[in-house]
Amino acid sequence: MNVQRTVFARLYHRTKSVEDLPWHREQPPALLDRAIARRAAPGRALDLGCGEGVYAVHLAQRGYAVVAIDFVEAALVATRTRARQAGVELELHEGNVIDYRAPAPFDLVLDSGCLHHLPRGHVATYRKRLDDWLAPGGDYVLVHFAHRPRIGWIPKGPGHLTRAQAVELFEPLELQAYDETEFDVPFPMGRMRAGVYWFHRPTP
Ligand SMILES: C[S@@+](CC[C@H](N)C(=O)[O-])C[C@H]1O[C@@H](n2cnc3c(N)ncnc32)[C@H](O)[C@@H]1O
Repeated sequence: MNVQRTVFARLYHRTKSVEDLPWHREQPPALLDRAIARRAAPGRALDLGCGEGVYAVHLAQRGYAVVAIDFVEAALVATRTRARQAGVELELHEGNVIDYRAPAPFDLVLDSGCLHHLPRGHVATYRKRLDDWLAPGGDYVLVHFAHRPRIGWIPKGPGHLTRAQAVELFEPLELQAYDETEFDVPFPMGRMRAGVYWFHRPTP
C-alpha cells in the first residue's frame, strides 16, 4: 500500500471542490512562464503530480503537447474536466511518477509539489529518471518545500530542501532562477515556504 497515495486520495475525496485543495492556485509559478518565454518554440511537456491540472492545461494552452501524471484518480478526473472546459487535449497517466518511463524525452518538465512527497528512498530513482525525462536543452521547473528548522520536531511529513541541497541534487542541471512562495497547509504543517527552481539542462 502506498501511504502517500492514500493520504492524497482522502484529501481529494473530502474536498467539496478541487479549488478548495490547500495547494490550489489559478496562477502558475512565474518561473514556469519565464521558462516557457525563453524557449524558441513549444514542444513536449511533462507535468509530474499534475493534481487538478491547472498547470498542465496552462502548458497545453501555450502550445505544448502535455503528458500529465498523478496517482490519484480524482486528480485525473479533475484534470480531464479542466482540459475539456479549456478545449485542449492532454495525455493522462494514472500511476506513481517514479514508475513512468517516457517513450521520448520532454523539452519541459514541471514538478509542482510532487517530489517533496516522495519517500526519501525514492528520491535517487526520481533523480535518475529526470535524466531520461528531460531532453538536453530542456527546462525543469520545481516547486519544493524549503528547509524549515522551526518545526524540525515533526517526525513525518514532506521532504525539505535548502536551495544549496537542491542545486547539488540536480547538478549538472544549471539553476537559471530561484523564487519563493508560501502555502497554508492543514495542521500539523501550517504555513510552509517553498522554493521555486528553474533549472536548464545544458546541451552537450
Ligand atoms: C501538492 S499536490 C500539487 C498538484 C499540482 N501539481 C499543483 O501544483 O497544483 C501534489 C499532487 O501530486 C500527486 N502525487 C504525489 N506523489 C505522487 C507520486 N509519487 N506519483 C504520482 N502522483 C503523485 C498527488 O496526488 C497530488 O495530486
